[in-house]
Amino acid sequence: MADPLYEKECRLRERVLLEPIGMTMQKLAELYPGFEEQFEHFVAVTTTPGGERVIGCALLLPETDRPGFGKLMQMAVDKQRQGEGIGQRLVIEAESRAFGELGLEGLFCFSQKTAVGFYEKLGWLPEGDEFIEADIPHMTMVIERPPVDAGEEPIPSW
Ligand SMILES: CC(C)(COP(=O)(O)OP(=O)(O)OC[C@H]1O[C@@H](n2cnc3c(N)ncnc32)[C@H](O)[C@@H]1OP(=O)(O)O)[C@@H](O)C(=O)NCCC(=O)NCCS
Repeated sequence: MADPLYEKECRLRERVLLEPIGMTMQKLAELYPGFEEQFEHFVAVTTTPGGERVIGCALLLPETDRPGFGKLMQMAVDKQRQGEGIGQRLVIEAESRAFGELGLEGLFCFSQKTAVGFYEKLGWLPEGDEFIEADIPHMTMVIERPPVDAGEEPIPSW
């Protein structure tokens, strides 16, 4: 939270995800007190003459009410930088952390219907029926930890 990149990540989330649904970071914090502190934050950063810019982010909630599964949330890439593979790299980073060091069995997210194809390209699968959140159609998307190849040593967690 004290990291200066956090403020920049919040502005990106506001621009890409929250403003379109009439929400702000402040309102989000009031609605879900203490929630923000539970996330692990993944950010894509570029360095410009004006300083560092956050151009993409993804949040990982390691503990959810689904045992062994973490939740990927607030996935956003700056509008001008979409389609360059930044979102894909953020998800892969979050998966590596989740299935490596955290030892989770799987991840799920509530994807806007328009982004389902993005997750499918990464091997995530739709689960259940479409539902509405913030007036937007969503699907639950899920990926399970890939099996460790026979003969391959599991990655140690220390
Ligand atoms: C959805 C989003 C996170 C994707 O990030 P991105 O950096 O633009 O995506 P990438 O460039 O990494 O795309 C990876 C692949 O997914 C595809 N893809 C990207 N967005 C897609 C979408 N909405 N639907 C279908 N496929 C998509 C790309 O074409 C690319 O395919 P390729 O490997 O065959 O070229 C980003 O576009 C975004 O922030 N959108 C607005 C907010 C949003 O919808 N967030 C998700 C909320 S659940």
